[in-house]
Formats: sequence, C-alpha cells, structure tokens
Amino acid sequence: MRVYIETFGCQMNVLDSELAEALLRSAGMEITDREDSADVVLLNTCSVREHAERKVHSRLERLCDEKAAGREVIIGVLGCMAQRTGEELIKLHKGINLLCAPGQLHRLVELITAAMNSSPQIALDPPRGQAKKSTTETGFIDLLRNPFRTHLPAQAYVRIMRGCDKFCTYCIVPYVRGPEQSRNPDEIIEETKRLIDAGITQITLLGQTVNSYRFEQSGKTVGLADLLKRLDNLTGLKRIRFITCYPGGFDRAILQAMRDLPKVCEYLHIPAQSGSDRILKAMGRHYSRADYDRLIDDARQIVGQIGIAGDFIVGFPGESDEDFQASVELIRRTRYKNSYIFKYSPRPGTVAARRFIDDVPPEVKRRRNIELLTVQQEVSLADNRALIGKVVEVLVEGKSPLAKKQNKGLSPEGSSTSDNLVQLTGRTRTDHIVVFDGPENLAGKYVDVEITDATALTLIGRQKTQGEDKKDDSYFKNH
Ligand code: SAH
Ligand code: SF4
Ligand code: F3S
Repeated sequence: MRVYIETFGCQMNVLDSELAEALLRSAGMEITDREDSADVVLLNTCSVREHAERKVHSRLERLCDEKAAGREVIIGVLGCMAQRTGEELIKLHKGINLLCAPGQLHRLVELITAAMNSSPQIALDPPRGQAKKSTTETGFIDLLRNPFRTHLPAQAYVRIMRGCDKFCTYCIVPYVRGPEQSRNPDEIIEETKRLIDAGITQITLLGQTVNSYRFEQSGKTVGLADLLKRLDNLTGLKRIRFITCYPGGFDRAILQAMRDLPKVCEYLHIPAQSGSDRILKAMGRHYSRADYDRLIDDARQIVGQIGIAGDFIVGFPGESDEDFQASVELIRRTRYKNSYIFKYSPRPGTVAARRFIDDVPPEVKRRRNIELLTVQQEVSLADNRALIGKVVEVLVEGKSPLAKKQNKGLSPEGSSTSDNLVQLTGRTRTDHIVVFDGPENLAGKYVDVEITDATALTLIGRQKTQGEDKKDDSYFKNH
C-alpha cells in the first residue's frame, strides 16, 4: 500500500509527518512522493489562519471529486484542522475516510486499516475544557521515529513540549494542540543520542513556547537552560537551536546558556506580535512593550552577535494607525534578522473572535502588511550588507530552491555546471540563509563561506573550506 503525505503549517507538523511516516513504514506500508498513484492520501493540516484552512479545503475538494469519479483512494485528514473541525469536515467533503488529531497520531495505522473496511474513522483529542492538565508527558511517539529519515541532511527536529497554555486571544493553537506538557529530559536525551548515532549534528528543539519547558525530576525543576546544558554535553552534536520563545517571563539563564554553551546557536525566534501596549493587552500577551525591549537589550548584551526573528500580526481588532506605527518602530529598534508578518484572521472559538469585531478593513491590513515588510527588508538589507567580507560557518541544507526552479526541465543533471557545481543553500549559527556554489555532496556538511554580496533575504558567498561532517567544539565559539 502506497501512502502520500502532504504537510501544511508549522515545524510541529513537519515533525509529526515524519513520525507518521515512520509508523506507517514499520507497519509495512510504502511512502510515496507521487500523489496521483497513491492508495492513501493524508493531509497533515493547519488551522492557524483561515487561509491555511482554505488551502486544505481546496485540496480536499479535488481529491473527493477524483474519488467520486472512480479513483480508489483512502483520504485522511491529520493535524490541527482535523481537531478543530471534527465531523463537520466529513459532512463537507464526503470522500474523507479518517480524521486523526495531533494527539492521536499513535493510532494512525489502526485507523487506516479500519477505514479500508468500514465507515469513516474519527480519532480526536478531548476538547480543551476536558483535557487533563498534566506535567508528566503522555503519548510521545517520538522515540519511534526513524533517525535516518529527517527533514534535512544532518538536521532533526526534537519535540520537547506539546500544546500551549498561553491562550493569546487570537490563537487557535491551545484549542487544537491541547494543554502544555513538557517531555521527560531523559527521553529527549535518549532520542537525541539515537539521532547523533544516525549522523545528525544539528537539532532544533520544538515547542509552542519552549522557554516554558519545565519538568519535575527528583525534587528539582528542569528548565530550558538546564536541558540545554545536558544536551550540550553530548559528543557528536554540533548545533542546538530551539523555537519558539514567548517573551513573557523569559529566564535570562537561557541567554547565559546561549553565551556559554558551545553548541547552542546564537539565534532567538521571539515573536512580539505588536509594538503597542494597547494591542498587546487586547491580544492577551502577558508582557509590555518595555518588557520586550528590555529582553532584546539583554539578549544583545549577554549573547553579543545574535540573530533575532519575530512575528507580527497586523490589523488586529482596534489597531489604529498609531498602534501600527508602534510595530513599525519596534522593527526598527529590534533590528530583526527577519519577521513573519500575518494579517489578523479571526479563528472561531477564540476569545478575540467572540469579543472583538474584525474592524480593520482588508485593504488597510494589506497596506500595513506591505509597509511592515518593507521596513523589515530595509533593516535586513542593511544588516546583511554589513556582513559582506566576513567568513561564516554554514551548515549546508542542499541545492537551493531557486536553483531547482531555474533548472526545471533542463538536463537530468539539474543545475550542474561545467565543473559540477550547483547553487547550494545553508544556514549560519545565527540562522542567516547563505547561498553559494559548491558540489551537491556538501549537503549536511559544515563549510566556511566568505560573504561577497547580500540581499534582504539571503547572503551570497564563496566557499572557503572543504566540507566537514563535524568539527571540534572549540572551533565554534571562535566563529
Ligand atoms: N507559538 C508561537 C507561534 C504559533 S502560531 C508563538 O507563540 O510565538 C505562529 C504565528 O501565527 C504567531 O506567532 C502569530 O503571529 C500568527 N498567528 C496566530 N494566530 C493568528 C491569527 N488568528 N491571525 C493571524 N496570525 C496569527
Ligand atoms: Fe498561540 Fe500564544 Fe500559544 Fe503562541 S503562545 S501558540 S500565539 S496561544
Ligand atoms: Fe498550524 Fe497547528 Fe502549527 S494550527 S501553526 S499546524 S500547531
């Protein structure tokens, strides 16, 4: 049986799809990248904005049409949208055979098998009100993963928490991903060791608010900084990242860990969402603009060279021009490496959708989105240009998507030039994207690259050293 999985949404879903693949493979199923000839099509979905759900609806419409026209296919919906819409989704798209919420992934094989023989299978998590709040982890299937099949060469995501308890007023995540639960650090270490044995050198710890990580062990609380310390001791590992951070109550020990631990990369993804106190309050974000500014100042002061990324929502209910200008000003002040900017999208069932009118007109949202992006690009371009002439260490991801696009339809060798170089892409410790020409077999290796040019989105460079799988730790802190 051939299974095709398509992933929407965030890194959590990328990891969940990876875990799902491992489960299905060990049950004897084949994973294919050809949707048209698959026997089972699974969509791992996202509900964070209406647009994300709309994409899934149109995919489902097409698949169900094909099925109605005679294609034999099992259609499954996994992830956040399965949990949010539940049975309604099957009423809307009659060809769906199974729904599997994020917390039910361990049952996927059983669900597919049952769906082949009978009516639609529905496995949802308990609604948020009834979900038990617990600090001991349950249902982490992460140890069942295949460490040889990760999303990128030499890189892996490692989940350290599930769920979210912050309940920002606009956000659907706490409803679809359930209560916050931190995972046992021993298990995280165990999983990381297996990944290292399989050749992984960079791990990215995942959680909705990773700085809330907390696990009670032998009468002591293990926090994120403690976990980083334990991971930093693992031989063979070269880089540790963590995403995403929540700015409220941010423990400065995490910044010290970043400064002191050689493997912990100098990168923070720490969304502000807005620069205006009035809007932050309405969003239910439990920090002020002054708290946020102080945190950024501390990060720069303690860590030194650091890449900071942010998220913003424009057009939140009641956002005035003045509120919006506060976000513009925050980008200029923080000098983010990059920002993800979203237009507010009311999510059914959230506090904001119930209490506030979505009163910022679409064209104003659009204009603010463009303006914020423009300001961010200005900042990124200036800061990227300042890196020209520097040598940076890059972990190579592979052929750059641009090179892939440009070479579509060309020779089977793809973008190979006369001396077999292709355009490669990779990232620095600070998460800057670097593109340069090199042999394709550098994917998963560490290379020194001299920056020769820059755009707002990427650094362009020239390869200085041969690729290395691993370098000794002392190397890292000097670069
Ligand atoms: N846990 C992460 C982010 C989760 S969702 C955090 O708290 O930082 C990713 C981003 O989507 C958020 O940071 C926010 O900027 C955006 N987002 C969430 N809900 C949204 C909504 N209803 N409308 C528009 N953007 C939203
Ligand atoms: Fe959503 Fe807020 Fe939780 Fe992030 S912290 S997932 S924005 S509720
Ligand atoms: Fe989307 Fe769920 Fe992630 S709503 S952003 S896939 S946690």
